[in-house]
Amino acid sequence: MNYTYLDCLALFGVGGAHPGGLQLTKKILAEEKINGDTALLEVGCGTGQTAAYLAQQYGCSVSALDNNSIMVEKARQRFSSLDLTIDAKVGDTRNLPYPDKHFDIVLSESVISFTNLISTLPELKRVLNSNGRLIAIETVLEQTISEEERSQIVDFYNFPQLFTEDEWVKAFRDGGFQRIDITKYQPGLEQVDEQHAADYALSKTIDDALLEILGKHEEIMQQNKDILGFRIFRCC
Ligand SMILES: C[S@@+](CC[C@H](N)C(=O)[O-])C[C@H]1O[C@@H](n2cnc3c(N)ncnc32)[C@H](O)[C@@H]1O
Repeated sequence: MNYTYLDCLALFGVGGAHPGGLQLTKKILAEEKINGDTALLEVGCGTGQTAAYLAQQYGCSVSALDNNSIMVEKARQRFSSLDLTIDAKVGDTRNLPYPDKHFDIVLSESVISFTNLISTLPELKRVLNSNGRLIAIETVLEQTISEEERSQIVDFYNFPQLFTEDEWVKAFRDGGFQRIDITKYQPGLEQVDEQHAADYALSKTIDDALLEILGKHEEIMQQNKDILGFRIFRCC
């Protein structure tokens, strides 16, 4: 079987599979006004590490969605083991199963880079209420690169696009967002302790090919550490 990078994350059940992990998530969310009345949607929730943290820390209403059924199953197991009432759905960012203007916050942690932005961004905007905001931690291209370098990255991750910061801003505007605040995230500045390390919920069978994919991911990240950057986009 030819596994993709996202299959690999699902089968390993990697929680916190975004730059900065849960530690960065906590920092970003601490700057938002979140309380028991806040309705929050996490798209591409993976195994539900962030959604669980949100429900526990803020007591807010959390909905979680991912298009990978293995991820959603692992997220549901996490929520159930923590006795959390979080609605977890299998669904796609391009066609969200929620009414218009339903959420105060939509969170995407390394997710929308993997999607078709032309259909995803207006959908995220649609489910946000008039004061709502999208918070997205996403990959940006920091430098001009050759076609060969671009293909190596885009093909490995199956990215439909690999955008510079300016291209992201244009895409958010085209998707219906008017104000876009940007924070640069520099990996490696934080100290990772046990509490903030990635967690794993392994599937029963782990093929050797999956280990190779994880290794390739590390190699691409290392090789392209000056080319690929990360931003936190706050869009409303
Ligand atoms: C890099 S992982 C990040 C997972 C999680 N946000 C985290 O930080 O651990 C990307 C996630 O986005 C999900 N995903 C990718 N495309 C999606 C789409 N079109 N709709 C919903 N989820 C999607 C994948 O299944 C995967 O769980």
